Amino acid sequence: MATEAPLYKDPTQPVEARVKDLLSRMTLQEKAAQMAQIERQVATPATLTDLSIGSVLSAGGSEPRYRATAEEWADMVDQMQKWALASRLGIPIIYGSDAVHGHNNLFGATIFPHNVGLGAARRNVIACAKHFVGDGGTHKGKNEGNTICSYEELEKIHMSPYPDCFDQGVCTVMASYSSWNGEPLHSSRFLITDVLKNKLGFKGLVVSDWEGIDRLCQPQGSNYRYCISASINAGIDMIMIPFRYDKFLEDLTSLVESGEIPMLRIDDAVERILRVKFVSGIFEQPFSDRSLLDIVGCKKHRLLAREAVRKSLVLLKNGKDPKKPFLPLKKNAKRILIAGTHADDIGYQCGGWTITWHGDSGRITTGTSILEAIREIVGEETEVVHEPYPTASTLLALHQQGSFSYAVVVVGEVPYAEFLGDRTDLSIPFNGHDTISLIAGTIPTVVLLVSGRPLVIEPQLLEKIEALVAVWLPGSEGGGVADCLFGDYDFHGVLPVSWFRSVDQLPLKSGSGASYDPLYPIGFGLRMFD
Ligand code: BGC
Repeated sequence: MATEAPLYKDPTQPVEARVKDLLSRMTLQEKAAQMAQIERQVATPATLTDLSIGSVLSAGGSEPRYRATAEEWADMVDQMQKWALASRLGIPIIYGSDAVHGHNNLFGATIFPHNVGLGAARRNVIACAKHFVGDGGTHKGKNEGNTICSYEELEKIHMSPYPDCFDQGVCTVMASYSSWNGEPLHSSRFLITDVLKNKLGFKGLVVSDWEGIDRLCQPQGSNYRYCISASINAGIDMIMIPFRYDKFLEDLTSLVESGEIPMLRIDDAVERILRVKFVSGIFEQPFSDRSLLDIVGCKKHRLLAREAVRKSLVLLKNGKDPKKPFLPLKKNAKRILIAGTHADDIGYQCGGWTITWHGDSGRITTGTSILEAIREIVGEETEVVHEPYPTASTLLALHQQGSFSYAVVVVGEVPYAEFLGDRTDLSIPFNGHDTISLIAGTIPTVVLLVSGRPLVIEPQLLEKIEALVAVWLPGSEGGGVADCLFGDYDFHGVLPVSWFRSVDQLPLKSGSGASYDPLYPIGFGLRMFD
């Protein structure tokens, strides 16, 4: 006699009925395992088939192999999914990845400016069979490393020219249980694909951050039982463990057996997890859709990212005499100088959360550097001289070879993520101040500042230069910078934060009355054309 397929496997049944049916078949151990999220490196048949762990993630920079292709990513996730489906109840995993500004762990994916373009970012991620997207930590920062991820100084002003790009994807914003560097709260935001957002409504899913619950006690993780009971009783549904899953499973089951965590809470958490899995359709379609692989790094996304770059740039100064604007630059100048550490560096312009957690310098992924974009846009007759580290003597030698119509100096920060970017001194690294001063002393100069946050710009320096643009961390499409610089498009961006004069003004908040004295106020941004 053929055994009937269990109700939860029947896609024609209502989601709630499927959730209840599956839950009723699960042991406590299986429930605890569904609540666990582990790192890719410990995802094996033992953890996914034998234990039936519920979710796997790639931490920042955690790829199947160095420079793995989108196909290899999909192969990896599909393999894990096969292991999960071979578990007693055959519950598929949710795979998570931080796609902070594109599928940023994947070599060759389009990298958007930080915090814009998440719509396309998500599609890149889905192409690799991933189901949820972390944003690498959202923090309303002062000068912390997470400032690159903070959206705005005031709730009501959107930094992103595409506010809907992140609104679309946000499912649950929660989980403020950890503490970095003694700060009481570190919130993490997880974006779940829009399908889920629309269908789940308020029955979202709360996921803790990386070793987040461990930080509930000092020394970190020392009283893990307490960390587990406090966080789960407070409403966390899924725990980004990410490595010590055996201890987690052992402690969680024992806490339930002893009554310190009510079974009702466990059932509530597991229901939420299963609901996401049913609603997202991964029971029916657990594997990647290979027809989507081609969209990773495709032209359409690169053009979209380029547009996002154009719209996120903020023009801060245009001409020593505002009546004589310096920009747009002439495309047919005879000889121009492109100087500075950040002119030809894809890694620097992408910033943190690119290929690795904290980012890196150089050709870490495919894209167009600002220098390359300038070379593409100027006329064939224009001689483009590139000098990453100009000194007084190199500059003198260059001058002896001929005069320059103008200089574009591109300087800024080295990439960082989270606490790695914490600094008390926010001057321009690599003596950026001196580089600007040196060049602007003899050549009319526009400065492009590549940074995740405002940096100190001395008043004397500001007077010396003709124009200043905050290009933020534009990502892989440097073409967007050249588009505005040379006047094919106007600047549109306005400052999402107040630009301080000196770090001792921090935290600088508009609306703070007479003491509010920024270099540029929040909302400031010039245009070239009316
Ligand atoms: C970040 C999270 C991220 C996690 C995994 C943490 O350091 O704060 O946003 O999801 O790492 O990469």
